[in-house]
Amino acid sequence: MIITVTLNAAIDKSLSVPNFRLGRRHRTVEQTTLPGGKGVNVARTLKTLGQPVIATGFAGGATGTRIVEALTDESILNDFVRIREESRTNTAVLDPTNGEQTEINERGPAVSGRELELFRDKLMYLARGAAIVVFAGSLPRNVDADVYAGLIKELRRLGLVVVIDTDGDPLRHAVRAEPHVVSPNVLEAEELVGHEFNDDEDRIIAVREIATLGAQEAIMTVPDGCFAQVIDEGEPRLYRVYIEPREAVATVGGGDAFLAGYIAARYGGKPPAECLRFGVACGAESVQRLGAGLIDPQKVERLVGEVDVRRLVAPAEVG
Ligand SMILES: Nc1ncnc2c1ncn2[C@@H]1O[C@H](COP(=O)(O)OP(=O)(O)OP(=O)(O)O)[C@@H](O)[C@H]1O
Ligand SMILES: [Mg+2]
Repeated sequence: MIITVTLNAAIDKSLSVPNFRLGRRHRTVEQTTLPGGKGVNVARTLKTLGQPVIATGFAGGATGTRIVEALTDESILNDFVRIREESRTNTAVLDPTNGEQTEINERGPAVSGRELELFRDKLMYLARGAAIVVFAGSLPRNVDADVYAGLIKELRRLGLVVVIDTDGDPLRHAVRAEPHVVSPNVLEAEELVGHEFNDDEDRIIAVREIATLGAQEAIMTVPDGCFAQVIDEGEPRLYRVYIEPREAVATVGGGDAFLAGYIAARYGGKPPAECLRFGVACGAESVQRLGAGLIDPQKVERLVGEVDVRRLVAPAEVG
């Protein structure tokens, strides 16, 4: 079983609005409403790929009830801790005329110490029947930035594989807790290592540096694939995985679909380079759809052949 953790689960609305202009009134031409938050998106893709997955985290108020019911309608197993405050609704506006995307994410609910303790107990219970735990997304209010770090250490002690996709301080703490896999996008990786990347050499050095900070495997997604340092035949190896970018319907959730694809392949025992290839195909397929975590597995299979995986030789150490 794979567990996905979404501490700040949400209802995600994706609206397609042609010629979106600030300060004007608009009508949507297409819209989707789905339970979301990064861990939930990852669970949706894993389920579509036929992997055994259960989604957990916090859900509160009427929005929380809607999240749980909608997940159940999608046949995504779930076991959330109910909290007193209301879960959030996030809105993404996609303008099909120019591909621009505007996101408005509500401030999440506050979580009490008691609620956090209930969650910890639930997670440790679920972990008894699981092999992989994926932590993805931001933290709700009143939760310490090192919460992921503490949970990662505990789960590692139990022998689980731990994957984390978050940003800012929670990511900084989490990486030091030595997760097996960390998968930031470029902005998140730049913030983590503390400088911008100008070329591919910078990007390669960055994934090595993120691994040095504590992650066993560091994967940085980019809009045309990823850079990664993964453990292959017992040693760290660098890869550049490339796919020709295509016109996207909505790039929201591309990283989540990537991560789900990588994990699904890994859970299936594929070698790391093939896991990266499959992840990139899932990411590229998902951006063709409105609604995070949605993929068509048959289209993913067709894309797999278009993904170029190159092993890289490490550039000379710098600094
Ligand atoms: N236009 C595109 N064409 C093909 N693939 C894309 C495109 N945009 C993104 N992807 C794929 O999606 C994956 C994730 O990309 P990105 O780095 O944008 O993720 P992200 O910012 O973490 O997204 P999110 O957090 O919203 O899920 C990459 O592997 C990339 O190959
Ligand atoms: Mg992401």
